Amino acid sequence: MTMPIPLETERLVIRRFQDADLDPFYSYRNDTDVAKYQNWSIPFPREEAKERIKEMKSVAPGAPGVMCQLAVELQATCEMVGDVAFWLDKREPRRATIGCTLARAYWRQGLALEAVSRLLDYLFTEHNIHRVVADCDPDNTASFRLLERLGFRREGHFVESFWLGDHWGDEYYYGILEREWKK
Ligand SMILES: CC(C)(COP(=O)(O)OP(=O)(O)OC[C@H]1O[C@@H](n2cnc3c(N)ncnc32)[C@H](O)[C@@H]1OP(=O)(O)O)[C@@H](O)C(=O)NCCC(=O)NCCS
Repeated sequence: MTMPIPLETERLVIRRFQDADLDPFYSYRNDTDVAKYQNWSIPFPREEAKERIKEMKSVAPGAPGVMCQLAVELQATCEMVGDVAFWLDKREPRRATIGCTLARAYWRQGLALEAVSRLLDYLFTEHNIHRVVADCDPDNTASFRLLERLGFRREGHFVESFWLGDHWGDEYYYGILEREWKK
């Protein structure tokens, strides 16, 4: 199977993490607006950021059950502005889950749309994925608008699905099939 990473788009390169990504990665992981609906808490330690980068440098993209996070870089300036993540389900490896995070300064410029579109092309083509899913907090408008713009279908609204430290949070669940994406 070919693994054509880096992936290119009009404005972006989606590539493996590098040691030099530590500063931007550590910085947006510690931004309260970026972390608001995510599964990490602030402060996100620098050591943990370093460890994650080390891990992602050696991970095999598409190994079932293993999360692969790729850095998103602006072609024009070579700045690392965020990441996309995906993992193939261990028991059903033709099903993948995705996520995307950008540093706040780069929001609302269509960059996530561009990055995740390319990621979906990659998953459906290179990994023969049948179905891609994503979940998000119903208050995370940016996230579900992005998914809906990409053609994902809202398939579930799980009520009080997980404990957020002081209250139970709901969750939206989205999916898209290969044939729907290719259409
Ligand atoms: C979610 C996130 C990646 C979106 O990135 P982005 O680059 O700003 O998104 P885009 O500019 O590509 O916009 C995609 C669509 O979502 C819409 N959108 C983006 N942010 C929005 C917001 N805050 N409110 C309403 N709509 C929004 C855009 O208008 C666009 O739809 P349109 O083309 O119909 O106008 C970004 O907000 C982010 O990194 N958030 C923090 C991390 C996070 O919560 N990630 C999701 C976890 S699954």
